[in-house]
Amino acid sequence: GFEIGKLRAQTGLVTLDSGYGNTAAYKSAITYLDGEQGILRYRGYPIEQLAEHGTFLETAYLLINGELPTVDQLSAFRGQITQHTLLHEDVKRFYDGFPRDAHPMAMLSSVVSALSTFYQDSHNPFDEAQRHISTIRLLAKLPTIAAYAYKKSIGHPVVYPRNDLGYVENFLRMTFSVPAEEYDLDPVVVGALDKLLILHADHEQNCSTSTVRLVGSSQANLFASISAGINALWGPLHGGANQAVLEMLEQIREAGGNADAFLEKVKNKEDGVRLMGFGHRVYKSFDPRAKIIKAAAHDVLSALGKNDELLDIALRLEERALSDDYFVSRNLYPNVDFYTGLIYRAMGFPTTMFTVLFALGRLPGWIAQWHEMIKEPGSRIGRPRQIYTGVVERDYIPVEQR
Ligand code: ACO
Repeated sequence: GFEIGKLRAQTGLVTLDSGYGNTAAYKSAITYLDGEQGILRYRGYPIEQLAEHGTFLETAYLLINGELPTVDQLSAFRGQITQHTLLHEDVKRFYDGFPRDAHPMAMLSSVVSALSTFYQDSHNPFDEAQRHISTIRLLAKLPTIAAYAYKKSIGHPVVYPRNDLGYVENFLRMTFSVPAEEYDLDPVVVGALDKLLILHADHEQNCSTSTVRLVGSSQANLFASISAGINALWGPLHGGANQAVLEMLEQIREAGGNADAFLEKVKNKEDGVRLMGFGHRVYKSFDPRAKIIKAAAHDVLSALGKNDELLDIALRLEERALSDDYFVSRNLYPNVDFYTGLIYRAMGFPTTMFTVLFALGRLPGWIAQWHEMIKEPGSRIGRPRQIYTGVVERDYIPVEQR
């Protein structure tokens, strides 16, 4: 719905653009997205090339600094991140206070917000040195925060970071190793998770990124802005879709595995049920990330020897939907979330951790967008307008006369 309303006095014309479908709030040089043709590039580099040849840390450096790092730059970047992976011991007490069944996304956003109480030097976003150190701290600590949230949920002691390991290896070990037993890192799992993090690393002005920018536009610090982004990501129409897809596949399996019956429900809009992991505001053809992830799902499941019935259901749903007029006429294709959950599940993550993994991947994009906004000359506070639809004016009536 695009509509033009008029506000009185000096404000001029105000456009009403539901869901910001046609309104650009920012100029950005970070991510190029062509939804008609299914093209996604970070700083000009095609996502396919980065996923095939790059690493997540290289991609994070690229998004934040604008160029791929040299060997020395990458090693310095990795070295800095490695020095900041530990959480302050007092942070552990936050986890003591959370109920054991708390959703890890709630723990993630709360602890990230709380980091600004430990690093009060982060409060001035115009200090370049502070921006840099806050960036390094966040990139280094988010995997530790995420792994602690998982350990809390299963009642296990936390595992401290090991800085001789790579970014993804360290996270997997903190998540899955148990006391007195060395955790065997599987190169298939490490490679696949690294690739998935690259594919999630940025996606221009989506809901969570716009949230990071909007909060940051008030000159709130980086931790506060990223914490808000994590909360925006949590919803099932955004990053929470990866959890919702798996739950949907499980429901279909429990009901006898009938993909057609489920699609009928979706098409009849019964109880507002949607085919989760399908559709995208911007992509009107295949999501290029979904193509890569679908292939990775096959590879990872067969390399790990997992024969997941849910993958068969997902393939059936996709095949049927892509030849069904309801989905075709609305340009509904699988998005990034349709197959990710199956990979995460094969790796051993519970469904509640899926969106946390998305947040780990999206972090460099959020940070890069926050930096770009803060550094933009003349950048203004984000402040949408509205079309007022309430009563124009009325007189107060004392309570006993109403
Ligand atoms: N299943 C069934 N129908 C759908 C779906 C879906 N997944 N998505 C959209 N539609 C239908 C709508 O019912 C609507 O039909 P109508 O014209 O008959 O009313 C039409 O397609 C347009 O839908 P909108 O909701 O207007 O599309 P919008 O661009 O606002 O929404 C969104 C995009 C939120 C991604 C939507 O497609 C959706 O809900 N998908 C499922 C959730 C999901 O997978 N989210 C992850 C997105 S990717 C990401 O954030 C990482």
